[in-house]
Parts: sequence; structure tokens; C-alpha cells
Amino acid sequence: MCAAGVWFPEIRRRAARASRPVAESARQASRTRLCARLRGVKTIIEPFRIKSVEPLRQTSREERERLLEEAGYNLFLIEARNILIDLLTDSGTSAMSTAQWAAMMRGDESYAGSESFFRLKKVVQELTGFRHVIPTHQGRAAERILFGVMCRPGQSVPNNTHFDTTRANVEINGARAVDLPCPEAADTQARHPFKGNLDLAALERLIETEGAANVPLVMITVTNNSGGGQPVSLENIEAVKRVASRHGIPLYLDACRFAENAYFIQQREAAYAGCTPKQIAQRMFSLADGCTFSAKKDALANIGGFLCTNDDRLAEQEKDLLILTEGFPTYGGLAGRDLEAIAVGLTEVLDQDYLQYRIASTEYLGRHISERGVPIVEPPGGHAIYIDAGLMLPHIPRHQFPAQALAVELYRHAGIRSVEIGSVMFGDKAPHELLRLAIPRRVYTQSHVDYVVEAILEVNARKNQIRGLEIVSQPRFLRHFSARFRML
Ligand code: F0G
Repeated sequence: MCAAGVWFPEIRRRAARASRPVAESARQASRTRLCARLRGVKTIIEPFRIKSVEPLRQTSREERERLLEEAGYNLFLIEARNILIDLLTDSGTSAMSTAQWAAMMRGDESYAGSESFFRLKKVVQELTGFRHVIPTHQGRAAERILFGVMCRPGQSVPNNTHFDTTRANVEINGARAVDLPCPEAADTQARHPFKGNLDLAALERLIETEGAANVPLVMITVTNNSGGGQPVSLENIEAVKRVASRHGIPLYLDACRFAENAYFIQQREAAYAGCTPKQIAQRMFSLADGCTFSAKKDALANIGGFLCTNDDRLAEQEKDLLILTEGFPTYGGLAGRDLEAIAVGLTEVLDQDYLQYRIASTEYLGRHISERGVPIVEPPGGHAIYIDAGLMLPHIPRHQFPAQALAVELYRHAGIRSVEIGSVMFGDKAPHELLRLAIPRRVYTQSHVDYVVEAILEVNARKNQIRGLEIVSQPRFLRHFSARFRML
């Protein structure tokens, strides 16, 4: 598992690399704090031991070649039992703790007034301060209800970058989903500590041209998933809040990865070096009027989500809609036991040692491939590493889907599943051709990550032989889930 000293140097170097533009005092403070924490043995280890295991199944290269052909070269269409290391998503794939499993036994499955709901509500309110906590079966259900209540046709919703379900839920209500990432985000190789920030000048311009009445809410996604898992600074959230407030527009967080974002703030933003991740998260939420949340990410749960708001009138409308499609407001489409797992996970995810391990392990993967010539979105993000396949495979034109070709090759070579975030997913609107390697929480050990590193480097060594793909069939919407391809 963790060879001595392996993850630690990553952390030590992080201060020097990723936070280059951050004030010296912040670097110093975070280094001092880290050194104090790590006095003695310096290796960062997985802060848990393993009580229950799932076997992984090896497949042969011939088998994988056949499976690829049968799946039309779409990794969504390959059965999970045929995947060795699954980096398709960090969503709903966390390993739960003994405390979460124990809490699930306490689940109160009452239709109305479940005790489990009140336990979850208490945890969420303590963390976020929001008045209304509305459980949903996952993040996109919260989005559908929020935008269904707040958006009208012709309006615009700005966000640093909308996730695909967020965009779809804005657009289905006839509104326009407008991405306003900060300018640094355009260059995958640029290093900036908060590349997830929202472009303030662009926000001002949008409100000016559209009129405040046509901007029902401003949203910030923390961390910015579609923008490379990059964090947003508290300074930026505060500034966005000031602009939104000046125009009477509410601010919402898409808070899926709030704890990872809080950890980046602690490490990179001078003013918060001495705060706990929880205090930083509380500050982030205190600036917002509400949030959507997928518990499948930073609640370490396998299903669930919620929608929060401080607006009594909106909450009533949202609960009415909830009853229509999700369930009664004290369970929202979830079992009582799921509510319990989320409540415990929300506390565990803010643990300093967990977050340090989490971010170090993602960075470990990123550094070990980028230092050997594989171009990644810099600096490494929180939940995933994104390979810039456009840069890595310049011989494959965009219309032959370089990132999909790389995903296929990585599976063929080593049984690793990743996901294309490029022209297959977004068509002509894709800003980059990225391959995302998302890291499930508390699931894989360092030797699994070493295997992934080795496989990627081997694929990179003969990258010139990788061929592009052509689409042979596709659905009308969200084609990446079910399109079929042919190798060229
Ligand atoms: N917002 C963000 C930023 C997300 O990353 C996701 C899901 C959602 C909303 C929707 O949440 O899946 O619970 O309905 N992201 C997953 C991913 C699917 O793989 O990145 P959900």
C-alpha cells in the first residue's frame, strides 16, 4: 500500500507549485501546520483500515477487445464486472465507514416525520445555516426542483461552469445556462490556485445586458467539476455575493464537493490558513441564499442529495413539487437509512486527515503522469485528474474524438474505465478534449493508483499508434451515455 515517504513529498511540493501566486504568509502558515501535524513519520497514509473487501476481476486483453467491440467503444456500456479500476466517476462510489453502516441500522423508515430526517436536518443546518432542508434522491432532482420554481423562459442563469445535468435542468425550463469561468480556466496548462473562480467582470456584463429581473439566480459550483475539479476562493464567492446582492439576485452554491473546496481554501487562501475545513465550509454557505447538493460526492454516501434555501415562499413551492415526484418532505425519495448515512458522511468528510489524504492522493496521480510528459489540467483538481487529450494526441482531430480514443485505449490496455469530457459529451461547444480520471472516495489504495500511473505511461509511450473514432449511432440528448462508435 503506502510505501514510506511516497505521498508526503507530494504535499510538501504542493505549496511550492500549486499556490505559487498565493501570499508567502499563507504558504508559510500551511507548511508550519502540516509539519506540526506530520512530526515523526512523514508518510501520508490512507486514514482508515479495511474491514470488508470486494474482489477485483482481471480480464485478458482479448476479452477486453471483444467487450469493447460489443459495447460500440462506449465505456458506459461495459458491465462493471469487466472493469478492473473504475475511474468513471467519484459519484455514489464512496466506501462507507463503519459509523455510516451502523447509523443505517438506525434508519427510521416512517413515511412522515422520520427521526432520520431530523437528524440529517440538524447536521445540515449546523453546517450550512440554511432554514429549509429538502431531501432529494440525488443532486439533479434538487436542480430540477430549484430551476423549475425559479426560472422562466428567456431568463439567464450564470455559473462558473454548469455541470451537464445542471445545464439540462436550466434549459428544460426555457432559460439559458451561461458559463462564466475565470479567464485562467481557458488554458489547461495555466497554474492558478483558484482556477474554478467565476469571472466577475463577465457577471457584471451579463446582468447589465440581460437586466437583473432576467437573472433569477447566480450559481457557483464548488469545486468546478466541468472546469477540471478546480476550487473557488472565498474571496471570489464574497465578491460574487456582493455583485448579486447589489442587484437583488440570490446566490446558490452547487455544493457537491464543498469539503474538497474548503480544504483547498485552507491550503491556498492566506486569510483561512488557521481555520478548520468545517469553519471554511460554514463561511462558504453563509454567503449563499441556498444550495443544491449531491450526497453522492462529499457526503460519502451512495445515493442522495438535498436542496436548501432561506426563502420561506420558495421552500413551500419546492416542497409541493417534491411531493409530486420525489416524496414527502421528510424523506424526499430516499430511505431513512440513506438519510442516516448522509448525516454521518457530512461530518466525516470534513476531517482534516481525510481531506489531506484525499487531495494528496489525487495530486499523486496527476504529478506522476504529468512529470513524465502526460499533459493534465493544471494544477491537479480535487476529485479527478483530467488529461488534455487534445494536447496529448494532436494527430487525432476533434471530430475523431481524441479523449474517447484515449479512454478506449486505457481500457483495452489495462481494464481502467475513465470518461470523456469533450466533443462526445458537449459537441461543438466543448472547450477542450479532456479525459477525466475520477477518484472514488476511500476506495482505492496507493498500489491501485500506481497501477493506473504505469498504465497511462505505457499508453503514452506509444500514443502515436492510437486511432480516432467515428460515431455510428447516437440518441438526441446526452449522447455520451449511449452513442456507439467505430474505430477508424
Ligand atoms: N453538480 C455537479 C457539479 C456534479 O458533478 C453532479 C454530478 C451533479 C451536480 C448532479 O448530481 O449525479 O447526484 O444527480 N456529477 C457526477 C459526475 C455524475 O460524474 O461528475 P447527481
